Amino acid sequence: MLKSFVLSTLLVMLQTTAWAKPAAQVSSPEGALTIAIELDPDGRASYSVQRMGVPVIVPSHLGFIFANAPKFDRGLTVTAQAPRSVDDTWEQPWGEARTVRNRFNELRVTLTERNGPRRHIDLLLRAYDDGVALRYVFPDQPCLQDVKIAEELTEFSIATPGTAWWLPAFEWNREEYLYHRTRIEEVGQAQTPMTLRLDNGLHLSVHEAALIDYAGMNLTRVEARRFRAALTPGVGDAKVARRAPFSTPWRMLQIADSAAGLVASRLILNLNEPNALGDVSWFKPMKYVGIWWEMHLGRSSWASGAKHGATTANAIRHIDFAARHGFGGVLIEGWNRGWDGDWFGNGADFDFTRAYDDFDLEKVAAYAKARGVQIIGHHETGGNAAHYERQLAAGLDLYARLGVGTVKTGYVADAGQARVIGADGKDHFAWHESQDMARHHLLVVQEAAKRHIAVNPHEPIKDTGLRRTYPNWVSREGARGMEFNAWGRPGNPPEHETNLVFTRMLAGPMDFTPGVFGMKTNSPDGVATTWAKQLALYVVLYSPIQMAADLLENYEAHPAPFQFIKDVPVDWDETRVLNGEVGDYVTIARRNRHSRDWYLGAITDENGRVLSAPLGFLEPGQRYRAQIYRDAPHANWKDAREAIVIEERIVTSADTLRLQLAPGGGQAIRFQFLGPRP
Ligand code: NOJ
Ligand code: CA
Repeated sequence: MLKSFVLSTLLVMLQTTAWAKPAAQVSSPEGALTIAIELDPDGRASYSVQRMGVPVIVPSHLGFIFANAPKFDRGLTVTAQAPRSVDDTWEQPWGEARTVRNRFNELRVTLTERNGPRRHIDLLLRAYDDGVALRYVFPDQPCLQDVKIAEELTEFSIATPGTAWWLPAFEWNREEYLYHRTRIEEVGQAQTPMTLRLDNGLHLSVHEAALIDYAGMNLTRVEARRFRAALTPGVGDAKVARRAPFSTPWRMLQIADSAAGLVASRLILNLNEPNALGDVSWFKPMKYVGIWWEMHLGRSSWASGAKHGATTANAIRHIDFAARHGFGGVLIEGWNRGWDGDWFGNGADFDFTRAYDDFDLEKVAAYAKARGVQIIGHHETGGNAAHYERQLAAGLDLYARLGVGTVKTGYVADAGQARVIGADGKDHFAWHESQDMARHHLLVVQEAAKRHIAVNPHEPIKDTGLRRTYPNWVSREGARGMEFNAWGRPGNPPEHETNLVFTRMLAGPMDFTPGVFGMKTNSPDGVATTWAKQLALYVVLYSPIQMAADLLENYEAHPAPFQFIKDVPVDWDETRVLNGEVGDYVTIARRNRHSRDWYLGAITDENGRVLSAPLGFLEPGQRYRAQIYRDAPHANWKDAREAIVIEERIVTSADTLRLQLAPGGGQAIRFQFLGPRP
C-alpha cells in the first residue's frame, strides 16, 4: 500500500514538476529565463518558468471554462510550434526613457484537442531578459467563434516562499487601499500588479499587459503559493464575450534579482503594440496647478453656491500664477453642471457642456490662451460611463474648440457600481475593470485622440502599458494619491510611496499630485512626509503630467523649496534606479530630455537612513552644480516636516553623495550641467 502510494506520488511528481520533459520551451536572449509548456497524461497543459535552472513558477495550469461551450483544458496536445526572435529599439514620444530596447524570443505553441472537432488555441510564449509573458490567441474556427469566457484557468504557482505586497481585489474602494505586506501564503484575493520578494532574493511582479476588450485579471490564492486568474465579472453570463479571432492580454511576470531591477524593466511597454496614433507631438508633458486641493480641504466646493471653487475669478487667479511660474496647465474642477445633488456613484446629472453661472468658460479659455497656459479639462462621471458616453463627443468637441489639450476624467463609484451600456442597449451596473469598462476607457482615449486631447482617468481601469499604443493616455490615478491626506481620516503613512514605486508604478505613470507644503490638513496625521520628500516625489513617481497640488499661497510663502517644483522636468531621456527595497526606500536619477541636467529623488519610509548615491550617471569630465534639497538634521515626518536645508555644491561623475534621509523624509537634487572645468 505504502509502496504503491510512494510510487504513484513519484510518478505524479515526474509528470508535473519542472523536470518532466517539456512539450515546448523558449529561453530569453541571454539565456537566464526559460518558459516551458508541459502536458500531463490527461492532456492538461501547464507552463513553468525557470531562472538559471532554478524554478520560479512550478507547473501552473492553463485553459478556459466557457459559458456556451465545453471547457478547454483536457485532452490537449501540441500540434505546432513556431519560433520568432526580435531585437529592436524604439523611441517613446514622451516617457521615463527616450529609447527602449525590445529584445525577446517567442514561441507560438498550438494546443489542439485530441477529440471532437479538434478545437485549438495558440499560446504565445515570450522570454525577455527581464521577464516572461504568455497570452492565448483564439483563431478563427467554426466551433469556437462566439467565445463566452466564464473563467480563465491560468495559474501562477510560485516555486519559493517569500513576501508579497498586494491590494485586496473586488473591494469597494477599488485600487485605493494601502498595500498589504504578508507572506505569500497569506495573500487573499489580490489585484495586479502584485509584487513578490522570494526568500532566495528574487523579485517578481505578476501583472498583465495590453488589456484590450477583455476583463481585468485579479489573483485568487487557491492554496499555499498557487494563484489562479480571477477575471472581473461582466454584465452578462460571461466575464468576457468576444468573437474570434482575438488575443487575450499578456500574463506577465517581471523577474529581477533586485527591487531596483523591477523598476528598471520596460517589459510592460514592450508587450504592447507600437504607437497607433502617429504624430502625437500635440501632447506636451507638463506640470500644472489647479482648483483642486482647496475642495479636498473643504475650503471650497465642486457644488454651486457661496463656496463654489470654479469661479471665473479663481480660474484667472490660477492662470496668472501658472503663467508667472512657468506651469503649463491649470486644472479646473467643478465648472460644469451636475455637482449639486448626489453625484457620487450616480453621475446622471453631469452636463459636460454647460457651465455654472459664476464660471465664464469662453472668457477663461480665451484668457488662458492669451497667457500661454492650457486649461486641463475635467469630466467627473460618478462612475456613470453610460451617461458620459452619450455626451462624450459633445464634451470633447467643446474642449477641442477651446484649446483644452488634456482631460482628467473620474469614475467615483464603489467597485461594482460603475454603469455601462450593455449589449442590450440598456444601462447596467459594472465593475471598474470589467470588459465593458476596458472598452469604455479605450473609446474615450480614441475619441480624445481624434481631437488631439490627452486623457488622465481617476478611479481608472488599471494600467497595462497601453500608453505605448495610445500615447495620449498619459497618466491615471489607480492607487491612493495625495487626496487621502486631505480628508478627515487617516491618510497615507510614510511608507506608502516606497510601496507604490515597486507595485502600482510598475504598471505605468500615476497622477499622484505631489508637492504639498501645507502639512496640516483635516487628516489626523496631515501630510505624513517631510518637505524634502514632497520634492523628491517629482522624480521618484513618474508621470508626464505632474501637479503642484498645494494652495497657491503655500507656494508663494515658500519660494525657496518651490523652486525645485518649478525646475523639475516631466519628460526624461534616461532613468537609473540607484538603489531600493520594496516598502523601505528608493533612489532614482533621471536625465532631462531637453537639457543635459540630471535630477535625483530619494525617499524613505518611517525610518531615517543614510543612502549612498554614486554619481557615475553624470557625463564624465563635466561639472555640475548640485542644487540639494535635503532634510535638516532634526527633520522628521511627525513634528519637523518643514525642516529643509537647501544648498549647492559642484560635483562630477567621480563623486559619491551621502544622502541622509529623515524618518518619513527624502532628498531632491538638480544637477545643473556646467560643462568642463574652465
Ligand atoms: C476623485 C479624484 O481622484 C479627485 O482628484 C477628484 O478631485 C474627485 N474625484 C472629484 O472628481
Ligand atoms: Ca481618487
